[in-house]
Parts: sequence; C-alpha cells; structure tokens
Amino acid sequence: MCEIVGYIGTREAAPILKKGLKELEYRGYDSAGIAVLGRGGLAVEKRAGRVEGLSAALRGRCGIGHTRWATHGAPTAQNAHPHVCRKIALVHNGIIENAHTLKEECLARGEKFLSETDSEVVAHLVARAYRGDLLAAVREACSRLEGSYALAVLAEDGKQIVCARKKSPLLVGKGEDGCYAASDVAALPPKCEKAYALADGDFAVLGKDLALFGADLCEKEGEEVVLERKEEGGLPFGFRHFMRKEMAEIPRAMANSRLEIKETGDFSRFYEVLCHAEYIQIVACGTAYHAALCFEHAAEKFCRVPVEVTTAGEYRYRDPIVPKGTLCLAVSQSGETADTLAAAACAREKGAKVAALVNVLHSSLARAADFVLPTRAGGERAVAATKSFCAQLAALYSIVHALAGIAGREAPPFSLAKEAETALVRSEKTARWASRFAAARSVYFIGRGADYCAALEGSLKLKEISYLPSEGYAAGELKHGTLALIDGRTPVVAIATSRALAEKTMNAVSEVRARGARVYLITTLPELVSRGEIEDFVLLPPCEEEYSPALTAIPLQMLAYHTALACGNDPDKPRNLAKSVTVE
Ligand code: F6R
Repeated sequence: MCEIVGYIGTREAAPILKKGLKELEYRGYDSAGIAVLGRGGLAVEKRAGRVEGLSAALRGRCGIGHTRWATHGAPTAQNAHPHVCRKIALVHNGIIENAHTLKEECLARGEKFLSETDSEVVAHLVARAYRGDLLAAVREACSRLEGSYALAVLAEDGKQIVCARKKSPLLVGKGEDGCYAASDVAALPPKCEKAYALADGDFAVLGKDLALFGADLCEKEGEEVVLERKEEGGLPFGFRHFMRKEMAEIPRAMANSRLEIKETGDFSRFYEVLCHAEYIQIVACGTAYHAALCFEHAAEKFCRVPVEVTTAGEYRYRDPIVPKGTLCLAVSQSGETADTLAAAACAREKGAKVAALVNVLHSSLARAADFVLPTRAGGERAVAATKSFCAQLAALYSIVHALAGIAGREAPPFSLAKEAETALVRSEKTARWASRFAAARSVYFIGRGADYCAALEGSLKLKEISYLPSEGYAAGELKHGTLALIDGRTPVVAIATSRALAEKTMNAVSEVRARGARVYLITTLPELVSRGEIEDFVLLPPCEEEYSPALTAIPLQMLAYHTALACGNDPDKPRNLAKSVTVE
C-alpha cells in the first residue's frame, strides 16, 4: 500500500527518506519518489519500480518520500508521488473520494494536471490556499476532502513539513537530530526517540520542533506510541525468504498468543463483556476472515453461542442488525485494514462493544476499540500472512475456552506449539508436489467443517503467491456443479481431520479421482493415508479437530511457498498485493 516518510533536521534528508521507504518496502508498492528542499529550492525524483533506483544525491535537510500502490492511474513515474503544484510538494496515502469533482473545479480555473491520480488534486488545493501559512493552507484543503488521507506537505519557501490525517495511519516523531513522519514505526530510525500517532482530523507541524494540533488548530498533546522495532530486522541465516522464516516462527507465535481471559488480570474487563455477550459478530478481511470462520466453528460447537462472521467490506455497507448484547471482534494483523476499521466503527455506532484482535498494538484499530487483545506473533514482513494466522487462531481459541467456561461447558484447552514443530518438518515434503501444482491450470482445496475453513485459507495462500487460479470448496458441495471443472490436470488437496466427517470427505476424494484428478491429502488421521486414491499425503500429529486449522495451515502455507518458487515468483512480494490494505 502507499507509505509515507518525512524528515526535517540537521542531517541530509534523502538517505533517511530512502532508508525509511526501504523499511516499508515489504508491504508492497509499484512506484516511489522523494522531494527534498535544499539551497537550490525543491528537487523531486520519482520512478516506476523499486526504491533502490532513487538516487540519494538530492541535497537538503527537509524532505518527504512515498511508495505508491496504484489505485487511480497506472504505476508510472508521472503518477508517483510527490505531486508538485507551484510551491507545494505533497505525498498522500488514502483515497480522495470526491477527487473527480475537485479536479473539474481546478480544470475550470485553468489549472493543469500532470498525473491521473486523485492525490494531485490535494496539491492543487493546498497551493491555492497557500499564502505563507502552510498549516492553514493544508487545513483549508482538508476541509474540502472526502475519503481518507495521510498527508505530508512542504512548501518551497517554508522550513517545515505539515502532516494531516483522516482514516489513514500516520505517525510523527522527534529525536535529537530532527523531526520525522512515517506511516509506520518500522520506518522511524533509531534516532527518533518519541513518536505520536496522529488522531483522525489532527495536524502536525514538523520544523525545529514538533507540534501537534487538533482539527480546530489548537495545539494538543500527542498520543505516544511504543517504538518497538526489534522484530523488523533482516533475513537470518538459513532462510531465503521472510515467508519461510515467519513460518518457522509459528510455534512461538502460537505459544505467545494464547490469552489468559479470566475474572482477574489484564483481560478481566473483556471477561466481563464476554460473560454478558449473547451474540458475537466478527469482522475481518482475507486471512483474518478465515481465522474468524475457524473461531465460529469452535465457538458454536463448544460454547453454543451464536457467532456471525462477515468480511468487513460487506458488513459496513449492508446496514447490519446488531442485537443488544453483541460483542464485535475485529480481527486484523496490521490493525490498519480500512474495511475492518470501518466495519468495527459501524458495529460500535450500533451499540456493540468492540474488541480488536491485532498484531500491531499501536495500530488505528487498537486505538479505536473498547478492548485490545494482542496476538504476539512478532513483526510479519512477507505479504502472505502465515504466523499471524496461527497466532490469531491461538488467541481466538483462548476466547473459545473462556466462553465455554462461562457457559458451564467444556472446551479442550488449546496448545499446539509442539505439534506445529512436527508439522513444519513433515510439511517440507510438499516441495516435491510443487512442480505438478505449478504446471496446473487450476487447483482445488476441499474439506468439511473446520477443514473447509482451512481449505479456504490454503487456496488464498496459493493464489496470492503462485498466481494460480484456485478454489477452496466444501467437499460435499463439489457434486453440485464444480465437479464439472475437475479433470486429469487438476490437483486436489483434501483436508481431513474430523473422524466423524472423514469418510464424507473421502467420498468427495473418490468422486474427483474418478474424474482423473490427483489427490494430495493433509490429515491427522493415520488410517486415511494408506488409501489407494491418494497421490501423496502429509500426516500431522493428532489434534482436536475443531482446532486443527492451526496445524493444517502449515502444510498448506508450505505448499503455496514451494509452488511460488516453482513458478519463479518471489513469495515475499507477490505482484499487485500489499501487506496492509489502508484503502477501501
Ligand atoms: C493473506 C493476507 C491478506 C490479509 C488481509 C487482512 O495472506 O495477508 O488477506 O489477511 O488483507 O489484513 P489484516 O489482517 O492486516 O487486517
């Protein structure tokens, strides 16, 4: 997604901006640019492609930088930020929803546009309002904007950077050598000693000092964020990709993410709400949505509490019914996913208590929720979520356990860290399956119950990094239409961990085998692996079937990883995708 950095101080800005952008590179982008204010005025460099290609030669001690993930207009140098209009240079993250109307207005005034982006119109509005007071001009421009934005703006004749924020994340910070702006902590260098998260509608001025302002332009105290950067280091010896390294961290991520939800201690307030929760709604996107589906299965089975899971982008626009006593869980690794933030806000407006299950504790979602439940997976740099999914499951299954206790029911405790170690070793054999998958036209993942949730996640992972068309399907549904697509060139991955449902899943296996498909089995049930219909299998350690997605995810992730390599793709940086999706 688009990322912003800014620096003003006693050092050369360009290398600091480049370093900050490089730290955020893993989140995905397609073009980059910086603007530096030096003795000779404003110098701008923009390019399609990687940050490395930007030279650090622009001289000056004040600058802004940006990586762009194209939404309005192709990923070209012209569409890259910063956008310049007269004395103003600006970088923007978010989407200006009324850009078309505003642009028409500017065009009618005879103003010329150089890009196809929605962001350039903001530079025009600021330039029009600028009469020597940059903060006032940015504020005036922001009052015209609909949509979401994080902005860093500088003026050629000023000695400051002005930042503004609505719905898109933005941090500002300071150290001995100057002031900083960044979309995320990871882009703030160690020299930045204190950082503050800008609240919605707030502004900041970075100059000799750092000053924060509310929407009324009254100066205010900032909300300090914890500068946890230790997980964002390089790739350790022995790993070619962050994705594989992060998978190796799954056992620790799961162990660390179990929550002690009880009457006393850190989560006692949440426990109180859980005691009175009559209905649970979950909003999430992508992999986090699949974790929520796994929760739904386990919670309904063990606790008999009704759970409704909706992708956040759908929830926010369907005028959802939020019954009294609803607890809304918003699940997100980054805590910055625009749809999840909006859905959580919608549930809250309608009276639900909102708990944010997040991996990034200083995130917007954490700040907006009534309760914060942390997953402690550590920083995740690969775009494809791996350890964060298993960590989300560990936390969600802890909630299942607490809920069952409250309901006077039994739910087995969750602890699969050891089994996950074994799963990692046994999953390596999927490397041998990869060439056949890489050559396939499409792939199916099938399962029933909790295995169906795992199938959805396995399919998403494969799509993301191998770019192969694939589908996760309820095994019993195949015969209602999709079987028509199965032939000898279709690999099918069957997931079977439920003794009660295993034979039903194996019926579906027989059906696809009869159409020539090769079937790869992922199971915890040793009796299934000797079936003649199976091409190969990964046998996982025994585990409670409702919790099994935390284990079956591992060979599925590994299969996606090896298939991506067999396709010649970089699994850490899949095309077109971003790590945190801060636009709708
Ligand atoms: C898949 C993946 C995405 C994210 C989704 C939500 O591997 O990474 O599907 O799960 O964009 O992101 P968060 O969890 O940050 O809200």
